[in-house]
Formats: sequence, C-alpha cells, structure tokens
Amino acid sequence: MAGKLVSKIALVTGGSTGIGLATAQAFVEEGAYVFITGRRQEYLDRATAQIGRNVRAIQGDVTKSDDLAKLFDVIATERGKLDVIVANAGAGDFAPLGQITEEFYNRQIDLNLRGVLFTVQGALPMVSNGASIIIIGSMAGSKGVPGMTVYGAAKAAVRSFARTWTLELKDRQIRTNILSPGPILTGPLESAPPEVFDQFLAGIPMGRVGLPAEIANSAVFLASDDSRFITGVELFADGGAAQV
Ligand SMILES: NC(=O)c1ccc[n+]([C@@H]2O[C@H](COP(=O)([O-])OP(=O)(O)OC[C@H]3O[C@@H](n4cnc5c(N)ncnc54)[C@H](OP(=O)(O)O)[C@@H]3O)[C@@H](O)[C@H]2O)c1
Repeated sequence: MAGKLVSKIALVTGGSTGIGLATAQAFVEEGAYVFITGRRQEYLDRATAQIGRNVRAIQGDVTKSDDLAKLFDVIATERGKLDVIVANAGAGDFAPLGQITEEFYNRQIDLNLRGVLFTVQGALPMVSNGASIIIIGSMAGSKGVPGMTVYGAAKAAVRSFARTWTLELKDRQIRTNILSPGPILTGPLESAPPEVFDQFLAGIPMGRVGLPAEIANSAVFLASDDSRFITGVELFADGGAAQV
C-alpha cells in the first residue's frame, strides 16, 4: 500500500469529531493504524464507522489519570508502540475577564494544558525513536481574542512544551511541533453566535473559515517523513489570520 504513514501507529486524542476525526481519517488513508479517544462513546462509534478500518476507539477523558492509564495499557497490549501522537483534545470556552471563576479556570487548564502534558508523558515509554508529536495549538495562543484569556494562555503554554520537548527528546530523534488552526468549521464554530462567527471571519485574510480536512493535511505533513527536519515549530493553518 502506498501512503505517507504506512505501518505507523498513531494516537489522536479527541478523535471522535472535528479536527481530530478528520486527522484520524487522513492518517488511515495514508496507511496508519490509529487509536482515537473521546469521552462520548456514541461519537467514538460513529467515527469508527466513518473511518471504517485500521481504527480503534478507546473511551476516556484526557483530564483523568486513570483514563489515560487505561488508554496506554490498551495501546501497549495491542500494538506495543506509538509513532505519532496528536494531542488534539481541547476546547475554547469563553469567559471575559471579570467573569472567570476558579472552576472555569481549572476546567480549561485541565483540558488544554494538563491533558496535553500527561497524554505525551504517559505515552512516552512506548513512543518510538524518530516519532512525531503534534500538539494542536490555536491562533488564540498568539493573538488576543476577547473572552479567551484562559484558553489563549493554555495554547501559548503548549507552544513552550514544544520548545522544551524538542531539546529533551532530541537524542531519540523525536520531533515535537505545534499545529495551530485559525477558525475551523467544526461543532464549536458551527454553534457560535453569528456575531462571533462574523468577528472571526473578518480577521481571516483568505476570506473564509477553514475546514477540518485542511488541518488534517497539515497534520499528515508533520506526522510524515516529509517534515523530518522540522521540529519545535508552530505551523499555522489559519488562512493568514495570525500572520498579519
Ligand atoms: N475549530 C476551531 O476553530 C479551532 C481553532 C483553533 C484550535 N482548535 C483546537 O482544535 C482541537 C480540536 O477542536 P475541534 O474544533 O475539532 O473541536 P470538537 O469538534 O469539539 O472536537 C473536540 C474533540 O475532543 C474531545 N474531547 C473534548 N474534551 C475531552 C476530554 N476531556 N477528554 C478527551 N477528549 C475530549 C471531543 O470528544 P468528547 O466531547 O466526546 O470528549 C472531540 O472528540 C482543540 O484542541 C481546539 O482547541 C480548534
């Protein structure tokens, strides 16, 4: 079989909808075997059916240590290694300064920061030499977005993870890169109030929002040998939104 990811074993957290699902699907089309996670079994079942082959769904929450331990047990038992990790599970909830509760802060940081750290750290023992770690960031990590104090800070912080891990994992030739989307047409954007959608749209030089498949294409690039000399970068797939 021809493909850019033949015989690679990949993990895509939050692979049941949106960018994660499109990425898992693209990886399988390129020859990979993919583990996907998410909290809702119903969406995992749908994603598994949609992808159709070489995919294994494991229900779990990336903010819960026990769920991550279970995930790594299954992957270790069934495949024994990981060549690609896409730390994608995440969400940007809105709360303007003045309305940020401790509970909101903890929830956003647990999901978008702690979840990434403990996903990658937990997987590390079975990550192969030469592997590719891809963290899904956001343009909100570099641009101010009203209401996204906590989310933007978490996405800025994972940018720092990539710099540090590039050095810490260099002896094993493991690459870590950030893939930062601009506004992408997935559930959260589809359900955004029209004025929020229009505000995002107005900031995109290419004049349209992006599609999950367009992020998936960039993830295939970062996962594959096509990017083998690229590590520690933040690749924006944002229609230019954070670039101007
Ligand atoms: N769409 C955009 O405009 C945009 C822009 C920039 C960055 N991003 C980033 O892209 C990533 C994917 O977002 P998306 O737009 O594709 O959103 P989405 O369609 O809502 O997908 C989120 C995925 O993560 C899973 N998930 C959420 N919380 C989880 C948890 N605690 N544990 C495990 N899985 C969890 C969801 O499944 P369950 O809910 O069933 O758990 C789902 O599979 C996120 O990191 C987001 O910050 C998105």
